[in-house]
Amino acid sequence: MTKTPAQNTPATIYLKDYARPEFTIEKLDLEFELTAAMTTVKSTMELHKVDATTQHLVLQGEALELISISMNKNILLPEQYRLTATQLTILAVPETFSLEIIVQIKPQENTQLSGLYRSGATFVTQCEAEGFRRITYFLDRPDVLTHYTTKIIADRHQYPHLLSNGNLVAKGELENQRHWVKWEDPFRKPCYLFALVAGQFELLEDYFITQSGRRILLHIYTEKGYLDQCHCAMQAVKKAMTWDEENYGREYDLDIFMIVAISDFNSGAMENKGLNIFNTKYILAKPDTATDEDYIYIQTVVAHEYFHNWTGNRITCRDWFQLSLKEGLTVFRDQSFTADVTDHGVARIYDVNKLRNRQFPEDAGPLAHPVRPDSYIEISNFYTTTIYEKGAEIIRVIQTLLGKVLFRRGMDLYFTRHDGQAVTIEDFVRAMEDASGMNLTQCRLWYEQAGTPLVKVTADYDAATKRYTLTLEQGCLPTPGQPYKKPMHIPVRTALFDHQGQTLLLDTDDGRPGLEKILQLKEITTTVTFKNVPERPIPSLLRHFSAPIKLQFDYSEEELVLLIKHDTDAFNRWEASQIYAQRLLLELIATYQQKRPLQMPEKFTELLRSLLNDKQLNKQLLSALLTLPSEIYLAEHMAVVDVEAIFAAREFVKLNIATALRAEFFATYQENVTTETGIIFTLANVGKRQLKNVALQYLLLLPDPALRKLGHQQFVTSLPLNMTDTMAALRGLSHLAIPERELALEQFYTRWRHEPLIIDKWFAVQAASLLPDTLPQVERLTHHEAFDIKNPNKVYALIGTFGQQNMLRFHAADGAGYHFLGKFILQLDKLNSNVAARMLKPLTEWRRQDSSRAALMCAQLEIMMRTPGISNDIYELVTKSLA
Ligand code: TRP
Ligand code: ZN
Repeated sequence: MTKTPAQNTPATIYLKDYARPEFTIEKLDLEFELTAAMTTVKSTMELHKVDATTQHLVLQGEALELISISMNKNILLPEQYRLTATQLTILAVPETFSLEIIVQIKPQENTQLSGLYRSGATFVTQCEAEGFRRITYFLDRPDVLTHYTTKIIADRHQYPHLLSNGNLVAKGELENQRHWVKWEDPFRKPCYLFALVAGQFELLEDYFITQSGRRILLHIYTEKGYLDQCHCAMQAVKKAMTWDEENYGREYDLDIFMIVAISDFNSGAMENKGLNIFNTKYILAKPDTATDEDYIYIQTVVAHEYFHNWTGNRITCRDWFQLSLKEGLTVFRDQSFTADVTDHGVARIYDVNKLRNRQFPEDAGPLAHPVRPDSYIEISNFYTTTIYEKGAEIIRVIQTLLGKVLFRRGMDLYFTRHDGQAVTIEDFVRAMEDASGMNLTQCRLWYEQAGTPLVKVTADYDAATKRYTLTLEQGCLPTPGQPYKKPMHIPVRTALFDHQGQTLLLDTDDGRPGLEKILQLKEITTTVTFKNVPERPIPSLLRHFSAPIKLQFDYSEEELVLLIKHDTDAFNRWEASQIYAQRLLLELIATYQQKRPLQMPEKFTELLRSLLNDKQLNKQLLSALLTLPSEIYLAEHMAVVDVEAIFAAREFVKLNIATALRAEFFATYQENVTTETGIIFTLANVGKRQLKNVALQYLLLLPDPALRKLGHQQFVTSLPLNMTDTMAALRGLSHLAIPERELALEQFYTRWRHEPLIIDKWFAVQAASLLPDTLPQVERLTHHEAFDIKNPNKVYALIGTFGQQNMLRFHAADGAGYHFLGKFILQLDKLNSNVAARMLKPLTEWRRQDSSRAALMCAQLEIMMRTPGISNDIYELVTKSLA
């Protein structure tokens, strides 16, 4: 059961062609009969024409076997309808009618994991974006909302749990060991939010009392044997419910909220109404199986899916061009939540790092697109970091411009005005304007223009008049289809510091004096003058990363050190450290390219030494300050990426830091070793572990057998207790050609071989290894007994990590990495085109590489173009990247 392949040229869908649906659907009754051989789906719906002149009804369908169609209880004859591979057209329909369609599908053959499929013995659905058409013929578009009832019939012993959206309203027994249930969803919804699950589960039960006193049943379903790993997720559900009530006044609206954890899942999780379906990766956790990072992700993803109940489900998207309406807004909400339950500065550093390492490269490459795109070929290619993370940044820009009070008023208006509707991004922005009285006309450009704006800032201080003037100039490079860009509305949060590191009171012509100002950039050039400035100040610009832009200011080293030590904005302390390190690294990269010897400036290591000795510093912030800018971020700053130079410079700096600060790192390591009770996930423990493990990474760079023994010892002692420490040690060892590495990998496999989710970490750590034989190892691992090309988590762990996180080995000069990935993608495309397309990303960014690598990468893309039967997913990305 493959997806429709790219026959000739697949069609492009345009936003400008949007037309309202021609029919409304009063209600939809679904009946599923699940058997080993096949599933029979009967759908009964009541349709009305919106416009009496409409003639035919066109329904979407894919990989379905049509059994029968009845209209108003009469079986249709073949001449009354037309059937193609993707459409069912019912000819000359009346104004109002009922339609009953029976189809058969084979979930056990569905490797796309879209529609109804099997994950092990479990039946599960994934309908977003266009999976419902793989279940039955329907108006598969998000602006067709209707009431659902779902009856499920299956074997009582094999499928004791039969779940769908809404409330369970009836159930009963049948002959032949079969049983049935009926679910009814009281809320109208689009079909992408439909869900069905049938299987044998263990159930973690809890409850939540809402602010209005309603009691909500909370259910988490997992495979047998994993119940003890669901507590983190359950706590997260309750925290998220409380947070949405306290921060947005939003209460949960059904009597039961269910989550099912599934092993085979294309993405992270899905917000189906009342029945969220999760990748096991974002549910299962206990200290010996999940890292602290996993714990944070679980909280965030659980909150994200829960928050969709209001931003996505109660108010949904009119069409898929509006995807960021729900995703950008919901990411913004989950980021705010995570910041509130962890640490605002650390959370922001984390979010911005992700944006810069993924979204900035996307926005600078051939697949750059606006947050509201105007065309697509395959919508599943648009679940991008631009739609999600840049979309979230735009919401944050709006919040910054309006202030928190007016922003909340805008959200309230959005919820009351559009509850139950399928709306557009424009509707959202208008609600913000109407509630605040602010004009967001220019702000809309954030949704229309792709590319990352660059703001260059220069400063001038006049000692005589005590005036300090900042000149901010904005620009944005062309992106595909957008050669010219208009100036954007950019809020630049700004503070000024004196040379003692004290914040200065800001006095400008607009508004009251304060410690922080939001400079509003609207023109190409903006000038702001601060009055009564006693000395030439040090500006802290774009605080808390107030807009998704690149900012340039020519700081001196001393100024950066001052900001690192004294800025009152934690994010900008880190930002100053990154600018400092980045400047140093880029200089070393140039030196390396000129084949001159590299030299380490002592000032930098002394700075890090003083930070390590600062016992007041938040340990997570300190860990971030001690971490160099990523290879990807450095590559972003080079006209032509020089993979070898980036690595040579970065490894050189790391080794010098480790050598100079060995004693400090060793002391830090020992001070932060956690005790038995320290295995628990608390913020204090997370900070200690993180700092200790940053120290360990540096120590493991030193060619000292005692330190390597220390690393292996941490691995061995933590293996039964704490995955964070296990993985940190394993990661450190993984880059070293020493016996401890092989021993640890073997010990890890022996311990966890029966836990597929944990073996993913074992695959990933090997795929990220900097050792020269990583590619042959990865190739060998694709044939390992634990690898399964049909399981997305396995593919992401091994192939995704290699292509996206191992720049050095993936970009091997001979093109072997490209060849391997190209071949793998073509093999995977036949099974799961959505996951195959996600793996393609690193090959599409060939333009940034030197000409020899670029040619080798293009060669792989061209092979794909010549391969008959590639999916639309691959076709779209390859053609756009070669264009
Ligand atoms: N709506 C989901 C989320 O962000 C994303 C998602 C779930 C998805 N399943 C998918 C995207 C399948 C593409 C394909 O919460
Ligand atoms: Zn989402």
